[in-house]
Amino acid sequence: MNFVILTLFPEMFSSWLGSSILKRAIDKGVISIETINIREFAEGRHKTTDDRPYGGGSGMVMKPEPIARAINKAKERYPNAYTISLSPQGRLFKHELAKELLQYRSIILLCGHYEGVDERIHEGWVDEEISIGDYVLTGGEPAAMVVIDAVARFIPGVLGSRDSIKEDSFTNGLLEYAQYTRPRSFGRAEVPEVLLSGNHCRISRWRRENSLIRTILKRPDLLANVSLSKEDIDFLRKVNQSINAIILRAQRELEQ
Ligand code: ADE
Repeated sequence: MNFVILTLFPEMFSSWLGSSILKRAIDKGVISIETINIREFAEGRHKTTDDRPYGGGSGMVMKPEPIARAINKAKERYPNAYTISLSPQGRLFKHELAKELLQYRSIILLCGHYEGVDERIHEGWVDEEISIGDYVLTGGEPAAMVVIDAVARFIPGVLGSRDSIKEDSFTNGLLEYAQYTRPRSFGRAEVPEVLLSGNHCRISRWRRENSLIRTILKRPDLLANVSLSKEDIDFLRKVNQSINAIILRAQRELEQ
């Protein structure tokens, strides 16, 4: 899969590309990531890439022509590339969208700056806008890194072992179970006994139940889209009964 980043600050990507797991994937030829400096496509002595907004107001707007030329340049190489503009007004980037983007062999990511990008770019030059969250960044560069990182993880050969994806948070709609490594005792905190048992059936049941509980506590909103097995329902019933018993006893104590 090929990613082309259109940016005014290509240097922001060098340490990221030079040191991450993605570098290994690039070296193996599993993915390619390149940057195009939008400023190289600006005209005039000053290579101006922004201008004042029509209608007045504060801030500057990125001019459309250098961006359009940069997109054309990327498309010379990847004519069928899917073009994304990183913007706080875009579709919210989640697990499902990361997987959806896997269908494209090449993706162009436009990083906006200042007060934004001339709207005619969004109307005629990009396939969609994507936002990584409900907040405004100073530029789209960190968002481009987030999108590339999350998409690339799904590409076979990027991560060391395919298994690490299977059990990830969000893969089955739940948060991932708690992980432990050596030492067995850390201060007074012990690794749960079941994980030392060597009984894979019990371990896998414990992990599922741990995922369920963590999701209920941390991200209950996710549960609306999870299909629960009979075992899950039995487990949740038992938890519910225990909680109800605790509440009842506490209530009785209060009333005495
Ligand atoms: N550029 C500025 N804010 C952004 C956001 N939240 N997501 C993507 N791109 C952005």
